[in-house]
Amino acid sequence: MKRASRENPEIREFILNNIEQYPDTMSSLVVKKFGVSRSAVSGYMSRLIDAGLIVAEGTTRARHYKLKKLVDITFNIELFDGLPEDLTWIYKILPNIKDERKNVVDICQYGFTEILNNAVDHSVSKDAKISYGKTYNEITMLIQDYGVGIFRKIQDDFNLPDPRAALLELSKGRLTSSPSRHAGEGIFFTSRMFDTFAIFSGNLLYRKTKQDDGWLVEIEDQEKYVKGTIVLMIISTNATWTTKEIFNQFQGDNLRFRKTHVPIKLAGYPGEQLVSRSQAKRVLARFENFSEVLLDFESVDTIGQAFADEIFRVFNNYHPETKVIAINTSPDIDQMIAYVKNASPKVPNDI
Ligand SMILES: Nc1ncnc2c1ncn2[C@@H]1O[C@H](COP(=O)(O)OP(=O)(O)OP(=O)(O)O)[C@@H](O)[C@H]1O
Ligand SMILES: [Mg+2]
Repeated sequence: MKRASRENPEIREFILNNIEQYPDTMSSLVVKKFGVSRSAVSGYMSRLIDAGLIVAEGTTRARHYKLKKLVDITFNIELFDGLPEDLTWIYKILPNIKDERKNVVDICQYGFTEILNNAVDHSVSKDAKISYGKTYNEITMLIQDYGVGIFRKIQDDFNLPDPRAALLELSKGRLTSSPSRHAGEGIFFTSRMFDTFAIFSGNLLYRKTKQDDGWLVEIEDQEKYVKGTIVLMIISTNATWTTKEIFNQFQGDNLRFRKTHVPIKLAGYPGEQLVSRSQAKRVLARFENFSEVLLDFESVDTIGQAFADEIFRVFNNYHPETKVIAINTSPDIDQMIAYVKNASPKVPNDI
């Protein structure tokens, strides 16, 4: 008999909050953490299945669990110039999300309307597919168009050598194909509001995941070619941050002059070392439009002297109004930055 009355709510909560991360090993994890028997854990599991919160897949021996989609909606819409993205939000998404925390609803509204507006204004696609899903603790939104593809469009519009270069520019923000109608802020802020933000386009996947102490940025070459653009946004229903807090993080001295955050790993190709001045110049492009640039060295171990000199000394000489701050640096990188900053070459008149 399943006795829910003697349940420990802490165990139930633990299972629900961790099952996506440990779909195969959850039972052993609970046994170890809470000192309960295996059969007690399977009682918890089957009650959560009965309650419609999780689903089990696979045979008994290879059983794994995942959170059940409590809401799962997919629909297509026709895209046309002037489509009011806020009405799609109000009539199609809001009725499903309205009972969530206000800050989460606001973030979803921001992301949804920005990304749908992008499909309308930039993709040249006739239609789009939209999905909205919710599990016990997560909201997932997906917007897919079948147009030119975001990396391809940026590459073409800004004369860049390849789609990866488009990604570096996109990450800086303030990049737009149509400055008269747009500010180039939508993706920059949307990608920072969600726990996971991913773009699939062409053969490239870009994924940004919130970690305890920052962001994990991943770029992967995909076998499967995606025509157009797919944007995926996932947020925890327990998220505590607000749209305003995210905007404020990047507020500069005045509204037209703000801060940015650039993952330096986007500047290199797999296996490539960051050594040259030309690589540094790619990184530095448009930095003068920002008051402060956080240059994030996450997963980069070393940089070359010329690369460092161009960014931390030469650029500063020409653009003292833009502060470039290195974060997540290895000891090697710290040393190189200190070295180039202290090296002041003699100017011709001194000789
Ligand atoms: N679905 C898409 N298809 C093709 N290109 C896209 C798509 N979404 C974005 N882009 C490209 O990426 C650029 C940056 O998009 P982003 O939303 O950050 O800024 P924006 O739309 O130009 O300006 P804002 O969002 O501030 O109105 C766009 O200018 C466009 O070149
Ligand atoms: Mg936009």
